[in-house]
Amino acid sequence: MAGRSFQHLLSFLMLLLLCAKPGLGNVTGCIERERQALLHFKRRLVDDYGLLSSWGDEHDNRNCCNWRGVQCSNQSGHVIMLHLQAPWSENLYQSLRGEISPSLLELDHLTHLDLSYNDFEGSSIPPFLGSLSRMQYLNLSQANLAQTVPTQLRNLSNLLSLDLSDNYLNFGNLEWLSRLSSLRHLDLSSVDLSKVIHWSQAINKLPSLIHLDLQNCDLPPIPPLTIPSLSHGNSSVPLVFVDLSSNHLTSSIYPWLLNFSTTLLHLDLYFNDLNGSIPEYAFGNMSSLEYLDLQWSELDDEIPDTIGDMGSLAYLDLSGNQLWGSIPDTVGKMVLLSHLDLSGNQLRGSIPDTVGKMVSLSHLDLSRNQLQGSIPDTVGKMVLLSHLDLSGNQLRGSIPDTVGKMVSLSHLDLSRNQLQGSIPDTVGKMVLLSHLDLSRNQLQGSIPDTVGNMVSLKNLYLSQNHLQGLQLLFLPY
Ligand SMILES: *[C@@H]1O[C@H](CO)[C@@H](O)[C@H](O)[C@H]1NC(C)=O
Ligand SMILES: *[C@@H]1O[C@H](CO)[C@@H](O)[C@H](O)[C@H]1NC(C)=O
Ligand SMILES: *[C@@H]1O[C@H](CO)[C@@H](O)[C@H](O)[C@H]1NC(C)=O
Ligand SMILES: *[C@@H]1O[C@H](CO)[C@@H](O)[C@H](O)[C@H]1NC(C)=O
Ligand SMILES: *[C@@H]1O[C@H](CO)[C@@H](O)[C@H](O)[C@H]1NC(C)=O
Ligand SMILES: *[C@@H]1O[C@H](CO)[C@@H](O)[C@H](O)[C@H]1NC(C)=O
Ligand SMILES: *[C@@H]1O[C@H](CO)[C@@H](O)[C@H](O)[C@H]1NC(C)=O
Ligand SMILES: *[C@@H]1O[C@H](CO)[C@@H](O)[C@H](O)[C@H]1NC(C)=O
Repeated sequence: MAGRSFQHLLSFLMLLLLCAKPGLGNVTGCIERERQALLHFKRRLVDDYGLLSSWGDEHDNRNCCNWRGVQCSNQSGHVIMLHLQAPWSENLYQSLRGEISPSLLELDHLTHLDLSYNDFEGSSIPPFLGSLSRMQYLNLSQANLAQTVPTQLRNLSNLLSLDLSDNYLNFGNLEWLSRLSSLRHLDLSSVDLSKVIHWSQAINKLPSLIHLDLQNCDLPPIPPLTIPSLSHGNSSVPLVFVDLSSNHLTSSIYPWLLNFSTTLLHLDLYFNDLNGSIPEYAFGNMSSLEYLDLQWSELDDEIPDTIGDMGSLAYLDLSGNQLWGSIPDTVGKMVLLSHLDLSGNQLRGSIPDTVGKMVSLSHLDLSRNQLQGSIPDTVGKMVLLSHLDLSGNQLRGSIPDTVGKMVSLSHLDLSRNQLQGSIPDTVGKMVLLSHLDLSRNQLQGSIPDTVGNMVSLKNLYLSQNHLQGLQLLFLPY
């Protein structure tokens, strides 16, 4: 019975489907005018890899809706999407070459155009693209496009996503962006924005923008405000993701960023010129921030205590700066943190006991600082830790027995310190450990038998210590 009614339901659904989709009944399923336009478009391209071989005139492939990369509307039969990103195969992008033909204008229902990773041989973005007014998604990433961006693109008022990254484009300004009021996702990374002084004001005018990627654009610093106004979260731009890494930004960026302090989840500023301190006023209020990368940013002050107030952080990288002073106790408040990198600074003092409170940590790197004191027992509480690097400091005392409790550890580097005493038996409990470096310390005694229990061990470095019995050691690899 159940089977029968299921069958009935099925045929009813099929009927519904057929009625709802008149296009389904057509033999060609493709509008002739648009088919001709696509064939024109193909003629202007050089197709070295035969990617468009399905685009033909022969009887069995006349239906352009079945051509590679072409998608038609089930309702109207119009071509709505062209997905022609170059495929990666045999170690190269199989790019189309040639020029973007104006015949695309015939595809006036087009909402998606993806020509990324093709090779348009240094030509400019054709201005006619600005007339494809239904366009929602335009991706011209890494397509060997050059020269200036046509201001006609400002007409694409339905655009949700624009990716012009990795091209040789010049931008005098970004004023043309201001009418893209629906834009949610903007990627201009690796294009030259060095002359766009007022780029931040252009971004302020995009009321729907969520995702902004301007990495590696030669971005100049924001001109400092004459009357600095620190309005927290006062922007109407709902930015969630911001990548401004590898630019020339200075601390004048903070008042602008503060405008998004209530919405930002991801902030990448590494490789800039943010000399000075990590301003409490800036990051202290970014209460929802989950990802903060400030590595290689010329920071040269103490880490503020308020860092611990960023209670949503899961990823924090402050490596490669000139930060000094000690690691604040408050780090222990960041209970959601899974990645903490403070390596390559000038941090002193001892490692705070509170590290053990960061129970979500999986990656902790404090290497290449001037940390003193001993390794706190509390490290054993970081049971999710898989990568621990404390190398290149001035740590003394013995390796705590509690290391054996870090059962998730796969990489442990304590080299280049002044650790003494013997290697604890408990190391044998770290059965996932594949890399163990204890070299260049002052460890004594014999190597515990339990080393043989570390069944995952691939690399073991114990040289330049005062250990005995190295030559007798049986290692499981
Ligand atoms: C249109 O049809 C295709 C294949 O027949 C199907 O995969 C797709 O989900 C349909 N789209 C809509 C919006 O119905
Ligand atoms: C189906 O064919 C009819 C008549 O030939 C045409 O008017 C209609 O636009 C076609 N539909 C599609 C989806 O091509
Ligand atoms: C852009 O829009 C304006 C008016 O809104 C119109 O005059 C102009 O022709 C359009 N340009 C293109 C390239 O469609
Ligand atoms: C644009 O295309 C490239 C390559 O196909 C892809 O990696 C990138 O994510 C796309 N951009 C957007 C905004 O979808
Ligand atoms: C927010 O900005 C508006 C103008 O853009 C201003 O009038 C208002 O005082 C600001 N509010 C705060 C709390 O800064
Ligand atoms: C912050 O946002 C407000 C409202 O959009 C804007 O008026 C102000 O200029 C912005 N501040 C900065 C520093 O860009
Ligand atoms: C940061 O750099 C700028 C320009 O390089 C300089 O004028 C300023 O004094 C520096 N600030 C600090 C705190 O080092
Ligand atoms: C956070 O913002 C509030 C309201 O604008 C302000 O009073 C407070 O001082 C800010 N906190 C920090 C740490 O800057």
